Amino acid sequence: MTRHAAVRACLRDRRLGRNFRHVGSEAEFAAAEPLDPRHQAFWDSERWSLLWLEPPEHTRIRKLVAAAFTPRSVDALRGPCEELANDLLPNGDFDLIRGFAQPYSIAVICRLLGVPTDRARDLLDWSHAMVKMYELDTTDTQAEAATLAAAEFRDYVVSLAEERRREPRDDLVTRLVETSIDGRRLSDPELVSTIIVLLNAGHEATVNTLGNGVLALLSHPQQWQRLVCGEVEPAAAVEELIRWDPPLQLFERWALEDGVEIAGEPVPRGSKVALLFGAANRDPRVFDDADAFDVGRENAAEHIGFGGGIHVCIGAPLARIELEAALRALVERAPGLALVAQPRRNRAFVIWGLEALDVTAG
Ligand code: HEM
Repeated sequence: MTRHAAVRACLRDRRLGRNFRHVGSEAEFAAAEPLDPRHQAFWDSERWSLLWLEPPEHTRIRKLVAAAFTPRSVDALRGPCEELANDLLPNGDFDLIRGFAQPYSIAVICRLLGVPTDRARDLLDWSHAMVKMYELDTTDTQAEAATLAAAEFRDYVVSLAEERRREPRDDLVTRLVETSIDGRRLSDPELVSTIIVLLNAGHEATVNTLGNGVLALLSHPQQWQRLVCGEVEPAAAVEELIRWDPPLQLFERWALEDGVEIAGEPVPRGSKVALLFGAANRDPRVFDDADAFDVGRENAAEHIGFGGGIHVCIGAPLARIELEAALRALVERAPGLALVAQPRRNRAFVIWGLEALDVTAG
């Protein structure tokens, strides 16, 4: 699916699911590869992830996460995001990915969860290794690394949850440990998957939005100037950054029932549907002159970047605050920002970003 309307319809269609294992076997869902038992620690870490679940389990866990990840807790991060962006933005020449976007984004997510930043390097390494499992061409070596990372990450989260049970704090991990709905709390395996997905989903896409977005801005100096001179607010520009070069390009859905038809085509039970976000975000039926990068575009927020339907990004309000603060710091502190070398793309397709973006703050 490449059209905006079709992608959106698929995201909202309850007959399509991210997972099918609650309604059928791998044999019935022909394109599914069985989960390789050598990578059990990885599958265990995913088992209760919101991204792996469908109702009713998804509904129960999403409610618990939403009860802990409240608008108030997200709003409270506006000040810390601004502070962190200013503190962590280097002067002179630096790699925007490793030198700013990664440390900033991991610091924000650590602040939200209440995770000490002394483990930031481990968190980044675990996350990078694990997200390779979402690509289309994962090698055995990458799968082994993802499995090892998942096991280490699990042990870390279990000890963190124990600490917060003993000594509660004002942070998301404590709220996730304590929150209950209808007398039911998250179990340990559910807690592990939830914290891992929040940490991983919570920084990979933000880092890549910053990388892709700053590259777009510096390759379109007039658009950068519109921010520098104050004609366009960073918050508005963030939407165009996500629309024009989204950090997540491909999501998939399985047809869970017979009788599904999309854009006039029958989609039999067991089929897999690919949703191409990058294409949907450039659909000329929705966006005028869709290939043009225009930070002041009025309907940029209609992009599909945060998904839709029951799996819609639960972190979108935080991502928006975080990206706005980073962009504001760049505009105010480094108005002369410029590229100093050809950027290197990462070699991934699903999680679309840059390996390095060498810039000078002037
Ligand atoms: C620019 C940054 C971000 C983008 C573009 C993004 C995009 C997305 C998208 C497209 C989905 C839906 C996937 C699907 O329908 O298959 C999603 C889900 C999710 N995102 Fe984000 N995200 C971002 C930042 C964040 C942040 C900061 C957090 C957490 C703090 C987060 C946590 C999650 C979680 C937990 C889910 C799963 C929700 C569910 O399945 O119910 N994301 N995100």
